[in-house]
Amino acid sequence: MPLLDDIEPLKQAALDELKAADDLPVLERAKGAWLGPHGKFTGLMKQLGALPKEERPVAGRQINQAKIELETAMSARRQELELRAAAPREPGDLTLPGRRRPLGKLHPLTQVTEDIVRSFRKIGFAVADGPEIEGEYNCFDALNTAEDHPALDLQDTFYLCAADKLLLRTHTSSVQIRVMKKQPPPVRILAPGRVYRRDYPDATHNPTFQQIEGLYVDRQVTVGDLKGTVEFVFKQLLGQETKIRFRPHYFSYTEPSFEIDFSSALTKKMGKEWLEIAGCGMVHPQVFLNVGYDPQVWTGWAFGFGIERIAMIRYGINDIRLFYENDLRFLRQF
Ligand code: DAH
Repeated sequence: MPLLDDIEPLKQAALDELKAADDLPVLERAKGAWLGPHGKFTGLMKQLGALPKEERPVAGRQINQAKIELETAMSARRQELELRAAAPREPGDLTLPGRRRPLGKLHPLTQVTEDIVRSFRKIGFAVADGPEIEGEYNCFDALNTAEDHPALDLQDTFYLCAADKLLLRTHTSSVQIRVMKKQPPPVRILAPGRVYRRDYPDATHNPTFQQIEGLYVDRQVTVGDLKGTVEFVFKQLLGQETKIRFRPHYFSYTEPSFEIDFSSALTKKMGKEWLEIAGCGMVHPQVFLNVGYDPQVWTGWAFGFGIERIAMIRYGINDIRLFYENDLRFLRQF
């Protein structure tokens, strides 16, 4: 069977030639010479017809097998050669200075938050965290907010599941409850985070914004402690010449409650003597009862304020929406 005997040596010769091909055109030529319409392997196929009928299937199978092997070897070699052709001819100059990547920056809201946290750390406050999806209990009930209180009109909003009483938290005050339920007094925490309100966006409102909450619980804490702390922090944040004033207000979780206004060169630049920046007060005894603290023994203060407001004053930004547009021309300035 001379034909059968030819297959193996012919295949070997073809493999050797393909492997030796040193560039793509040589490889293509070798491919044509073996596997093309007039190639040597194709020639073998043509001789099949001359074989006795019973030998044809065996010979056919062997030829096909060899062809597959050749084609595999061919494409492996092609890949090698293509890779080599794509690689640079000269090695790069390894002594060239590297490409510098521009460094990113922290978002202005993050910068302000970190500054506030840094000031409070100096006086022993730790950062606490709570979820943005919150239960109605932590957000309102435990904070002593009556179900029909008008303050809820602004805040009773974005329920995820009415049956489970889950909602997007409307303020970071919910973290006060979480912290006090978890640890015994004394407490000194700060809780920065995102909150949600049913607001239409305009220059001073956005349905989502950032707040920072503070809570201090110990024996014999007074409004004097609250005022002193707030003054210390705002002077650090907004300059030593900053003045603070407390106005009576109502929050269900504090008694007495206040709004904090401040005055500085920055507020004057905005055309105002005083600007309101925070709510605060002495923790309501009912809140202590709700978390299992004895209001006869423990006293405390709490405050909460919007971070955007502080950032806007500090950097002279006149539209809150700019913080959320992710426009690099805006963000690069801080
Ligand atoms: N939760 C209030 C708000 O979102 C701010 C606030 C006021 C927080 C008084 C407090 C507080 O902790 O004592 O407007």
